[in-house]
Amino acid sequence: MPKEFTVTPWKVEGEVDYTKLIKEFGVQEVNEKLLERIKKHTGELHYMLRRKIFFSHIDLGFILDEYEKGNKFYLYTGRGPSGNTHLGHLVPWMFTKWLQDKFDAELWFQMTDDEKFIFNPELELEETNRLAYENALDVIALGFKRGKTFIFSDVDYGKTLYKQAIRVAKRLTVSTTKAAFGLTDSDSVGKHFFTTVQSVPAFLPSVLKGKNIPCLIPCAIDQSVHFRLTRDIVHKLGYYKPAGLYNVFLPALTGPKGKMSASIAETAVYTTDAPEVVEKKIRKYAFSGGRDTVEEHRKHGGNPDIDVSYQWLRFFEEDDKKLERIHDEYKSGKLLSGELKEILIEKLTVFLKKHQENRERARKVLDSYILKD
Ligand code: TYM
Repeated sequence: MPKEFTVTPWKVEGEVDYTKLIKEFGVQEVNEKLLERIKKHTGELHYMLRRKIFFSHIDLGFILDEYEKGNKFYLYTGRGPSGNTHLGHLVPWMFTKWLQDKFDAELWFQMTDDEKFIFNPELELEETNRLAYENALDVIALGFKRGKTFIFSDVDYGKTLYKQAIRVAKRLTVSTTKAAFGLTDSDSVGKHFFTTVQSVPAFLPSVLKGKNIPCLIPCAIDQSVHFRLTRDIVHKLGYYKPAGLYNVFLPALTGPKGKMSASIAETAVYTTDAPEVVEKKIRKYAFSGGRDTVEEHRKHGGNPDIDVSYQWLRFFEEDDKKLERIHDEYKSGKLLSGELKEILIEKLTVFLKKHQENRERARKVLDSYILKD
């Protein structure tokens, strides 16, 4: 029987079959030829490309064609501020930072405080707006360039965004939002309207600068649903269709099904978690691919494909050789589950210590990254 799973911008459930998603979402696989083409410009490939964490794309060929002609692109990505930032959110952002450095590209970063207010019955607008600026600290902490990185809350940049959102809204029907997102007649008009706001940064720089600029959107595959609609509509408005480069999900701590979710604390490690908390969560909750007893584990080995500690190392350990050694030793039974967890704890503790320092420093420069009207 085929495995059941759901991927929408608001829900990821079950064991995701990424090959099926490529078909369903009308995107293309990132293949070796494309990787070679990227490498020609970047010199080396980011580990998330080497490992096919960024596994699919749409129109990346167009972005490179234009770049080769001297027509530079900008990057666009975002965050729905519903809580603290977790490690899964950092995945597309770390990669986006690499793209910014390699292609010297501007980044437009949208904080959808309106979305999280509309979709989450428990959240007030003041709270999602506050979280937008808290989450922005995580973006800045990753080292995005000042003067080339523009972060905005939908609410605080609303005047500029609204003017463009209504141009999209005029061309978007409710039957399309129903079919694309699974929304129904009982959903609020706010939910049906929201995607128009997420469309805007995919062409806003072209509007503001008075010339067409190609746009590349790096994010997890769940968000690609929005941009399928965006592509059709902005093309009708006379702008380039935005391209996308899409990543797989960092799995929840508690198991390989679904994705890490900010609203279920034990499935996630947050960027603000203290080292003791990270340690405790991993020891207590990290789903293990190990055997029931040490003897059995030594004899038959563990399963890195389902072991969350190993899977997380694929996203955070840059060194291919080190990762391969961990994989092989775990599979052969030489490395025990507890030992694998300790390797992950060590890696994340070092990573988060630096991130948290950068995050505090970011408070002082936050204003210089923010767009408001
Ligand atoms: P949000 O806040 O749900 O997620 C922020 C970014 O993180 C990605 N993501 C993940 N990546 C890997 N593993 C995970 N477990 C995981 N969970 C989330 C998301 O795909 C996203 O890239 N509506 C958006 C905010 C937004 C946006 C955008 C995102 C506005 N404009 C343009 C991407 C591109 C949202 O709620 O994202």
